[in-house]
Amino acid sequence: MPMLEVRAVQGGYGDITVLKEVSLEVEEREVVALVGANGAGKSTLLRTVSGLLRPTAGEIRLRGERIDQAPPHRVVELGFVQVPEGKQLFQQMTVEENLLVGSLCPRARGARQRSLEEVYSLFGELADKRRRQAGSLSGGEQQMVAVGRALMARPTILAMDEPSLGLAPVVVDRLFAVLQTIRDRGMTILRIEQNVQQTLEMADRGYVMENGHIVLTGSGPELLANEHLKTHYLGL
Ligand SMILES: Nc1ncnc2c1ncn2[C@@H]1O[C@H](COP(=O)(O)OP(=O)(O)OP(=O)(O)O)[C@@H](O)[C@H]1O
Ligand SMILES: [Mg+2]
Repeated sequence: MPMLEVRAVQGGYGDITVLKEVSLEVEEREVVALVGANGAGKSTLLRTVSGLLRPTAGEIRLRGERIDQAPPHRVVELGFVQVPEGKQLFQQMTVEENLLVGSLCPRARGARQRSLEEVYSLFGELADKRRRQAGSLSGGEQQMVAVGRALMARPTILAMDEPSLGLAPVVVDRLFAVLQTIRDRGMTILRIEQNVQQTLEMADRGYVMENGHIVLTGSGPELLANEHLKTHYLGL
């Protein structure tokens, strides 16, 4: 049984249909990349899986349980946790307060101290800054807080919406290295990125989305060798 199963999902915003029969699967311990141009519908899909938007057709299952009509807190409780587009930190609160917000859900509450220690050991740069206001950190550090906050919810599947957007290459490398560590520990990951090359290199499988449709899917190397992808996404 796939960890996450999206079957012929349609949805969007009110009368605006963005997702057109989108199907996608993520198996346990897989790293799956979802790539596509601006406006393709990637974030809309993530919001729909998270329960923030209701699909108008299709089915979404998490470990076999239907979640397409479930409220967001139920989706988190089942272990699907997202790092939202644009981080969405509480700027006036400290780093640690932001991290603790992630552990407010029942599934994570009991483990909050252990989770904090894990996050500080993954992101050593945050440990010294735990009392700093989140808004005073660099963009890269803030993204680490956003990833850390999601980990505090003890996800079984971690979804990330463009975690590397706007970061300097050296910071992106640092973030990708931490993601690799998380992956090596057995985390299941769904990643949205515009950084197609680096993301597909690290992914077991990928999906390419255009105008609300999945137009291509395959293993990371297969997609990187695909002519359409090379021309339209890699500029080769
Ligand atoms: N709140 C909203 N209300 C109405 N339409 C929206 C809303 N948010 C996004 N859209 C539209 O839905 C479509 C898909 O947007 P979405 O944000 O899912 O794209 P994306 O693939 O995540 O793009 P990007 O890479 O730029 O983040 C776009 O046409 C966008 O204008
Ligand atoms: Mg987006």
